[in-house]
Amino acid sequence: MAKRTVATLLEMKKSGQKVSQVTCYDYSTMSLVDQCGIDTVLVGDSLGMTMQGYETTLPVTMDEMIVYGRSVVRASKEVFVIMDMPFMSYQTSVEEAVANAGRLIKETGANAVKLEGGAAVKEQIKAIVDAGIPVCAHIGMTPQSVNVFGGFKVQGKGEANAERVLQDAFAVQEAGAFMCVLECVPPKLAALITEKVDMITIGIGAGAGCDGQVLVWQDMTGINQQFTPKFVKHFGEIGEALKDAFRAYDAEVKAGTFPAAEHSFVKSDCSDEFLEGLREKY
Ligand code: KIV
Repeated sequence: MAKRTVATLLEMKKSGQKVSQVTCYDYSTMSLVDQCGIDTVLVGDSLGMTMQGYETTLPVTMDEMIVYGRSVVRASKEVFVIMDMPFMSYQTSVEEAVANAGRLIKETGANAVKLEGGAAVKEQIKAIVDAGIPVCAHIGMTPQSVNVFGGFKVQGKGEANAERVLQDAFAVQEAGAFMCVLECVPPKLAALITEKVDMITIGIGAGAGCDGQVLVWQDMTGINQQFTPKFVKHFGEIGEALKDAFRAYDAEVKAGTFPAAEHSFVKSDCSDEFLEGLREKY
């Protein structure tokens, strides 16, 4: 399959084809994702939690995003790669937002950036798009605002909040976003937004009425065994499979059955006599 582009992804929305997205943060995993028909990958700042063990995404830096992003891009032949803009890399000013979006694209080779917030960040989105960088917006439950929300909670409940989330969608679309993540938005509202906008809506905890879906890859494969949000489905039990492999390895190393002869380099440049000589000498 050819590399996905903004144009081919928008064409998918027009023709009613769903768009798949997973997060990804490293070369090995991306090499697998790239072979599976997935359309887009998000190098999310969720890496702060999944890869670095923080409780929120807030500590993640631009330099860290770039290291993870580069390794993902190196393995992406077909998949469209989106780089998340970390906390405080775009909120402070429009100039800083453009400079940091530029760094993410220049230094990783990714195809687009994502930033959180609706109407509040429309100037930033417009300036980044004007600089030639495609933007994916992110509205509803925006994890970088966890301290404002008082936790990772569903947004858009109640009529006033629902209308505000819809207006956020219109604002980011008007600013030029080609795609928008709707996180933890009530499904009927997410479906309404999807119907009303031309940009691609990507849901996470927002029901099946969105144009596409995103999940964190460690959540959907069962690697994350600490906490499973309600909206996550396990499409595999890789965490258990990995633990089985680690336990089997540990047992064989301790039993002395690994490595077997077939795992060893049998040819040696030293003769047995020479090695015997070494044994005696030392
Ligand atoms: O950082 C992230 O991975 C995200 C997705 C969960 C949408 O923002």
